[in-house]
Amino acid sequence: MIVLGVESSCDETGLALYDTGRGLLAHALHSQVAMHEEYGGVVPELASRDHIRRAIPLLQETLKRADVAPADIDAIAYTQGPGLAGALLVGSSIACSLGLALDKPVLGVHHLEGHLLSPLLASDPPEFPFVALLVSGGHTQLMRVDGVGQYELLGETLDDAAGEAFDKSAKLLGLGYPGGPAISRLAEFGDPAAYKLPRPMLHSKDLNFSFSGLKTAVLTVVKNQGAANVCEQDKANIARGFVDAIVDVLVAKCVAALKQTGLKRLVIAGGVGANSQLRAALNAAAEKKRFRVYYPELEFCTDNGAMIAFAGAMRLSINPQAARRDYAFNVRPRWPLDELKIV
Ligand code: KG4
Ligand code: ZN
Repeated sequence: MIVLGVESSCDETGLALYDTGRGLLAHALHSQVAMHEEYGGVVPELASRDHIRRAIPLLQETLKRADVAPADIDAIAYTQGPGLAGALLVGSSIACSLGLALDKPVLGVHHLEGHLLSPLLASDPPEFPFVALLVSGGHTQLMRVDGVGQYELLGETLDDAAGEAFDKSAKLLGLGYPGGPAISRLAEFGDPAAYKLPRPMLHSKDLNFSFSGLKTAVLTVVKNQGAANVCEQDKANIARGFVDAIVDVLVAKCVAALKQTGLKRLVIAGGVGANSQLRAALNAAAEKKRFRVYYPELEFCTDNGAMIAFAGAMRLSINPQAARRDYAFNVRPRWPLDELKIV
């Protein structure tokens, strides 16, 4: 079965073709980062318009790379939510129009389920069950995953998401958007002893997170110095203090989640999963505490069409009736993951 995946929930347009027999056939992606950079964040209306411009050329590129004809597609999976309403509407309407034109069934996919299952696209995928840490720009959640559609929320952020904390702190340091990769690179040059920033909820005895205080701590340091007086080395030191604090909390909660569930496999998903300091700390903890960590391929950490095609294919493998042929569509900008249960 060949599934076309369409992702457009935020600022990346992603198209992909996944074959349940042969694996990922091809994928193509356009990131709008450069377009949103001058505004310091994603401008929803611009995002929607750009998805319209990019989707069809990316589809043509994907079909060509995979050497697949439109008639060979068996089903079309698209991100139905959560995300920006306008952006989601673009991908959903394109996917449903294609379905109608090609006479193929369509299926709305949950964006976070795509992230959650993305490590299964790697060459050495984890077996179920596992604990998953979902760390993206909009979400920070620890889940127990027993299979496709079998997710139990173990803990989540009470305020900012980890990616949001990276982006907001980077902005305070005058770095561009999105700030995650920039603050991570800068931290490599920082002195870990210069700023000891708070580790929110490290000892909270549950699996929840809170990151808004950490961002405020960065703001306080910058203000106390006077923004104009923060030299490059100081910026690197603050970046280092921030990264060390957030990584400490994420790793400690992952270890606690493994302990609580008795599981030995940890999966990291979402954009912050690309962070090199987080990966190094998790690898060190895994060796010490004897568990195994699985990461998606770097290109599938951030938003992409491959994870949507894959999640759609997994759902259809379990329940072929999940796809529809009515082609009416609505989007779900807010959509709790635990509503996805397959029983
Ligand atoms: O999963 P994703 O592409 O989009 C959402 O669904 O939110 O995640 C984007 C987030 C952004 O906040 C970005 O700053 C962060 O992931 N990110 C990183 C890194 N690469 C992306 N954060 C820290 N270090 C990175 N290397
Ligand atoms: Zn995402």
